[in-house]
Amino acid sequence: MSVRAIVLAAGKGTRMKSARSKMLHELCGRPMLWHVLRAVRDAGIGDVTVVTSPEVAEYVAELARGGGYEGVRAVLQEPQLGTGHAVGIALGTMPHDEDTIVVLNGDMPLVDAALVRETIDACAGGLALVTVRMPLPSSFGRIVRDGPHVDRIVEARDATEDELEIDEMNAGLYAYDERKLRAAIAELRNDNVQAEYYLTDTVRGFVAAGHHVVPVLAKDARHVLGVNDRVELAEAAALLNRRICEHHMRAGVTIADPATTYLEPDLTFATDVTVLPNTTIGRGSRVGAHSEIGPNARLSNAVIGEHVVLTDSVVVDSEIGDFSIVGPWAHVRGHTKIGTGARIGNFVEVKKSVLAPGVKAGHLTYLGDAEIGERTNIGAGTITCNYDGVSKHKTTIGADVFIGSNSSLVAPVTLGDGSATGAGAVVIRDVASGVRIVGNPGRVLPGKNELPSNY
Ligand code: UD1
Ligand code: MG
Repeated sequence: MSVRAIVLAAGKGTRMKSARSKMLHELCGRPMLWHVLRAVRDAGIGDVTVVTSPEVAEYVAELARGGGYEGVRAVLQEPQLGTGHAVGIALGTMPHDEDTIVVLNGDMPLVDAALVRETIDACAGGLALVTVRMPLPSSFGRIVRDGPHVDRIVEARDATEDELEIDEMNAGLYAYDERKLRAAIAELRNDNVQAEYYLTDTVRGFVAAGHHVVPVLAKDARHVLGVNDRVELAEAAALLNRRICEHHMRAGVTIADPATTYLEPDLTFATDVTVLPNTTIGRGSRVGAHSEIGPNARLSNAVIGEHVVLTDSVVVDSEIGDFSIVGPWAHVRGHTKIGTGARIGNFVEVKKSVLAPGVKAGHLTYLGDAEIGERTNIGAGTITCNYDGVSKHKTTIGADVFIGSNSSLVAPVTLGDGSATGAGAVVIRDVASGVRIVGNPGRVLPGKNELPSNY
């Protein structure tokens, strides 16, 4: 018997007070809905119907284009008449089968695959629902028991004062026998405070029909935290971040302060990486063994080699070679590749450039659209003038070049191996190997070098 899932993500999310759907608000660099769909995928469920608004449907379509979410599709619910109505809409588009159907709220981003599996296993041809003990007061629906058995769920808004004292709540994760679910949804009425069709009323329907209703008590209440407003969003984000940090710490990464280290899912750290405070790492970044990142660093889609020291710096869409030192206060971006043992220092910005091993750019420099050879030293204040107001141009610098402080290299320009510029040189023409250029406009230093024909 196979298992399919329905994820409820069409709600207005009014408590977020946002122009954007609640489902697309992010925690740890991914939309809330992404986390729920990841848990469903990790629980082994490939066929997933997401009940959405049009805005969220676009996101689901984007996700379904790859990465193991090909079996995920969106179904629109307009108007939104409650969670029971949403499940009815989804079922109406799903072929009849003899499945188990998992239903879960899209606003529980901390849910994990193990809990989804546990719920499926408890279903046994009836209904299994996850319950959780929580401190009062709470806006969650209450589990009303008749002796040891679950009798019904009462929504907080519809509850009596006595019912509000119940501290066992409905988490919003269920596994149903498909045929019985279809029958129970058809029976729902909207005679409640919000005039909505509540999915939670299916419990009463199952009990009345004599079907099993099995509570699955969540061991960790944090896994089923519902996010309804931005306070709960921040709480959930902190818990999720902590969970990701703990995963990496247990795998051999030192994180000096998890409270100020912000990690996304799907990062790769080798053993003995150290992450220092106020550091954000995301977008599939990878960090090699023995590297030290932070404090105050931001990595996005970065590949960092081994034994790198990177402090107070930003690396976006770029690679840093082994044994390099970056920062403090460097900005490496736009498909830059920095070779082994390079040194990128204070207030240096590098964009779309390839730096060979051993290049040093220690201070106050802009290197854009540049290719720089081995061991070349870039003096303080050097600028590759790569933009003429219309197009970007390339600067090519050979190996063992010495660029003097405050040089301007006006691209397109090439400086040969072993060439040099004096302080303040403005290089407007190509420089042959071994030649030293000084002044503005740059000319060959008399007496020291041969005069190339183009000067
Ligand atoms: C719901 C449960 C409550 C449970 C709580 C756990 C119901 C009636 N109540 O309350 O028992 O304790 O979750 O967090 O189910 N949605 C739709 N279409 C709709 C309405 C909602 O898709 O017409 C989606 C929302 O986007 C959301 C989920 O269903 O992801 C739950 O809706 P929400 O309004 O957050 O319900 P709660 O009041 O939190
Ligand atoms: Mg909710």
